Amino acid sequence: MNCIGILTSGGDAPGMNACVRAVVRTAMSHNLQVKAVLQGFDGVMKCAFQELRARDVGGIIQKGGTILQTARSKEFYTPEGQDQGLKNLRYGGIDGLIVIGGDGSMRATMALHQRGLPAVGVPATIDNDIWGTNMAIGVDTALNTIVEAIDKLRDTASSHKRAFLVETMGRRSGYLALMSGVIGGAEMILIPEVDTSLEEVVDTIAQAYARGKTHAIIMVAEGAKHNAAQVAQYLTEHAPNMQTRVTILGHIQRGGQPTAFDRLLAARFGVRAVEALINGEYGAMTALDGREIALVPLSEVTSNERGANLEYYKMARMLAK
Ligand code: F6P
Repeated sequence: MNCIGILTSGGDAPGMNACVRAVVRTAMSHNLQVKAVLQGFDGVMKCAFQELRARDVGGIIQKGGTILQTARSKEFYTPEGQDQGLKNLRYGGIDGLIVIGGDGSMRATMALHQRGLPAVGVPATIDNDIWGTNMAIGVDTALNTIVEAIDKLRDTASSHKRAFLVETMGRRSGYLALMSGVIGGAEMILIPEVDTSLEEVVDTIAQAYARGKTHAIIMVAEGAKHNAAQVAQYLTEHAPNMQTRVTILGHIQRGGQPTAFDRLLAARFGVRAVEALINGEYGAMTALDGREIALVPLSEVTSNERGANLEYYKMARMLAK
């Protein structure tokens, strides 16, 4: 192995840059060359390769987003695109590839591994929906952003005795809504993993007010059965005494400086990913397992789905009393 390629793919996540830095500096210390592939798998298709040296990754440890840029490449997700992608990487002199991204990116990494390219994945997505790792890069920062928003919304909600519907990202996973609901003290949490009727929402919030609460925070995952606007409309129609407001946090959740946790995780994943390529541990993803950094086969990662942990759902309901 002489030259490692590195790319960031899918939605950006805070801490991706810290991981790129760790990969480059670890590779340098093993006398390996590093080439960036710009704009994710689109860059593979366009041969957008550029050498990265130690100084090129200076001053990025604290930056959100990704200096390598990212994309969701349609072309690469076809078998023909993947064959061509492999040829392009080989033409670019890339002997092994590190892919930092979400579940779609792990499937793409698996496809390259199956075609014979030494490849290792690093989980990075605010959704925390990747099987095999306790945490992905970016999750902690996004949770902190959401909780800061909840704290601010509670101030105004309480002043007006209002119910706030706060919609989080997460695609098909309720992780962000659930965990921020626990941490932010939400009265109710609506996630795709739990089927909740609109009648239940009215009852739960009415009971919360009856117990003397001065506000209600209802976290709604973007993948939940009813989105925040639909829930608000139902509340307005069926509980006219309840004043509701909707806040969709949107892409704010993806930006910002990575937290200490995300920077450390990014550094540990980056170092382990390079070591995996050097040791011939291909076709795997770095993972946080308890306090250790482990490697999980990509075949396992891509054939399992990770849902939100419903123990936290029970906990949130109990603590909302
Ligand atoms: O996967 C990360 C994520 O932010 C999801 O939570 C969200 O559904 C999606 O990406 C949004 O994608 P885009 O940035 O393409 O709008």
